Amino acid sequence: MDESIEVAALAYVKEFFAGDATGHDVWHTVRVYRTALAIGATEPAADRRLVGIATLLHDVDDRKLGGDANRLPNATGFLQAHGATAAEVAAVTGIIRQVSFKGRDSTVPDTLEGRIVQDADRLDAIGAIGIARAFAYGGAHGRPLWDPEERPRENMTAAEYCARQGDTIAHFHEKLLLLKGMMNTAEGKRLAEARDAYLREFLQEFIAEWQGIR
Ligand code: ADP
Ligand code: NI
Repeated sequence: MDESIEVAALAYVKEFFAGDATGHDVWHTVRVYRTALAIGATEPAADRRLVGIATLLHDVDDRKLGGDANRLPNATGFLQAHGATAAEVAAVTGIIRQVSFKGRDSTVPDTLEGRIVQDADRLDAIGAIGIARAFAYGGAHGRPLWDPEERPRENMTAAEYCARQGDTIAHFHEKLLLLKGMMNTAEGKRLAEARDAYLREFLQEFIAEWQGIR
């Protein structure tokens, strides 16, 4: 597995995510890839190639896109078709399995590379991009912007989190506002600061406008 596999992986994800309108388009993967490499550059012990390829493939078996997040057939098939060894397939799929947010059952990846990919993925869920993605996801799933009579549910299990069909503002409380405190790396924490502040400012403004204060 050399760096040319990343070129092939980029072409693969472009094709794979074509037409997605749930916030999981190929540009999500491209942004997370850039961020993961930037965080990786601050972590000298990280295996750059592993960070790169795991990031490029991290959503191709996503449950929300109808994938099988346990067996990861798409990532595994891609890697095998491009000459990855069994150990490399295990390393990459091991990372992908640990990255996703699942309420209180989220895991801290046991490898540095996994922690980097997870931070980069989570950074794309906050800040201006995160706000845009949340409302895109909500719209694609027919959810209201906000239901002021609904209370956000904190501390959900993985099953509860996955079954939840709340309004998009509830999702801010149930996931997005928690992410800053869940960053693994020093650079991830640093990058999360401004993005988290932007989220909070947006929420204040949204609610003020809703109530007719502005
Ligand atoms: P990621 O690609 O970061 O692992 P997810 O697969 O959990 O994230 O979700 C993709 C995007 O959709 C993220 O920006 C996330 O915040 C958003 N999203 C997921 N669930 C909801 C929801 N119930 N309401 C609004 N946005 C959501
Ligand atoms: Ni992702």
